[in-house]
Amino acid sequence: MKFFVDTAEIDAIAELNELGMVDGVTTNPSLILKSGRDIIEVTKEIADLVDGPVSAEVVATQAEAMIEEGRKLAGIADNIAIKLPLTWNGLKACKTLSSEGRMVNVTLCFSSNQALLAAKAGAAFISPFIGRLDDINLDGMELIADIRQIYDTYGFETEILAASIRNVNHVTDCARTGADVMTAPPEVIHKLALHPLTDKGLETFLNDWEKTGQKIL
Ligand code: E4P
Repeated sequence: MKFFVDTAEIDAIAELNELGMVDGVTTNPSLILKSGRDIIEVTKEIADLVDGPVSAEVVATQAEAMIEEGRKLAGIADNIAIKLPLTWNGLKACKTLSSEGRMVNVTLCFSSNQALLAAKAGAAFISPFIGRLDDINLDGMELIADIRQIYDTYGFETEILAASIRNVNHVTDCARTGADVMTAPPEVIHKLALHPLTDKGLETFLNDWEKTGQKIL
């Protein structure tokens, strides 16, 4: 499963990238707001930093304007994925931009029927939002499993990019369910390495080592 980082914070991306944990980046208008940066500038910096796809989201709501914004965003770098909302206008823009050979990430997906439409419109990625479904007492992971089954049944190549990941259990469940990609905030990715038994075991080993009086270096 590929790891995308869901942030527009350059330092956080760079830190994880050095560890080989970044296969791509996703941003959205809320994350751009949080970063306090200009969308074009920060997207270029991110795209220069990482090799994989960097999603940048349009804000127009009419198809023609979405297409224009998408072309502009795609012009920032070769690894830009144009992020479009799952509306009929977004799907129309997806069809046009995908046909031009551009990478499209269809976002704000909350049902398997929406995912089916995105695949038929040529999306490179579909982004089902797990956390936001869980927030309203629905099962985000069930949606990932349904999309996996549908895409596999019909041989759609659109990658399932599990989004709105809120905790480490979401990551495990995505890997188990067969999501192609998961995008998570840097804090969630950092937490993946943590285990109390690792800390406890290391403490014991270091205490015992101290008692041997030996040194390796
Ligand atoms: C994904 O592409 C979105 O940017 C993101 O995962 C949304 O997450 P949220 O529901 O925590 O805002």
